[in-house]
Amino acid sequence: NTLPLVDRYGRQVTYLRMSVTDRCDLRCSYCMSEKMTFLPKAELLSFDELDQVATAFVRRGVTKLRLTGGEPLVRKDFADLVARLGRHLGAGLEELTLTTNGTLLEGHADGLVRAGVRRINVSLDSLAPDRFAEITRRGQLAKVLAGIDAALDAGLKVKINTVALKHQNADEIPSMVEWAHGRGMDMTLIEVMPLGETGEDRVDQYIPLPMIRDRLEARWSLVDEPHISPNAGPSRYARVQETGGRLGFITPLTNNFCAGCNRVRVTCTGRVYMCLGQDDHVDLRAALRDMPDPVAALDAALDRALLAKPEKHDFEIKRRGTAPALPRHMSMTGG
Ligand code: GTP
Ligand code: 5AD
Ligand code: SF4
Repeated sequence: NTLPLVDRYGRQVTYLRMSVTDRCDLRCSYCMSEKMTFLPKAELLSFDELDQVATAFVRRGVTKLRLTGGEPLVRKDFADLVARLGRHLGAGLEELTLTTNGTLLEGHADGLVRAGVRRINVSLDSLAPDRFAEITRRGQLAKVLAGIDAALDAGLKVKINTVALKHQNADEIPSMVEWAHGRGMDMTLIEVMPLGETGEDRVDQYIPLPMIRDRLEARWSLVDEPHISPNAGPSRYARVQETGGRLGFITPLTNNFCAGCNRVRVTCTGRVYMCLGQDDHVDLRAALRDMPDPVAALDAALDRALLAKPEKHDFEIKRRGTAPALPRHMSMTGG
């Protein structure tokens, strides 16, 4: 079956985000709770199974594959996995990439390039070591910066992802933009989303991105880039005239972008979640492990999943102390 994955709203899924582990070496306050229980290893899809999932999606028109976590680089033998998935490049897959917290990047940069990765996204919320340690609850900024340097030296394009946090980094965003653009890196700002009990009240940290943009525009001129819908994804980009770099805005709270959704997410246990902000999902692992013809079963599961893709998320920041929109942590679906 090579039919494109078009959902009930006419959106084609061309982008697969695949989580390869639920574990992470950091505990970012908006993403995980201080005390996380991780899955036993037997629950995880094996490299064979991850490859089967990727193959099924690529056959049905997925052109972009992003590996996520938790933190993808903590998965044992990650380099072997990425090399293996790299074989899909040129055979339907156009881009293989990952989103990482950067702590282990220094040792992986060259392997990523050899596997065919051209650009990566690195999550980084502060350039102040003490703040970085506070936000991540255990991270060392220096390791991330060394990882970014190694990636740039290896020839990777790097984009910085920054979650805007009212009391922890909002004041720092202009200098982070300057830093990123100064080193040839694009940057994307993200509104904090209410997922999972993280022990942190997101109402306190939420700051609307239009407010940050106003502050940036007091200093720089931002020229919006055209957003080619449908299927352009959630980020809206502007070019900062003075720095020459691009700045993206992901605004799930202030401006819903779901009409252009082009993506689905597979968890490390093989569930395909059809929306980051909804619970609709289908178990692909059952198709892989329990059915006589896994290829056909996987295809059938994808068709069932497509029918379940919701029109949009319904994130909203509620009153202080109210439960998150979804009990599952962001680390389950890798953002
Ligand atoms: P590019 O390929 O560089 O455009 O990356 P990307 O934005 O698709 O991926 P990345 O992992 O850098 O995503 C950044 C963050 O944006 C994610 O981790 C999410 O927090 C948020 N995000 C991405 N896609 C969606 C989406 O479909 N819905 C919502 N609500 N948030 C999203
Ligand atoms: N809201 C917004 N972004 C989040 N991320 C993790 N948790 C949240 C959240 N609650 C981001 C990370 C990373 C990406 C994978 O998801 O900072 O950039
Ligand atoms: Fe798509 Fe859901 Fe994201 Fe909206 S929130 S853009 S429907 S994945």
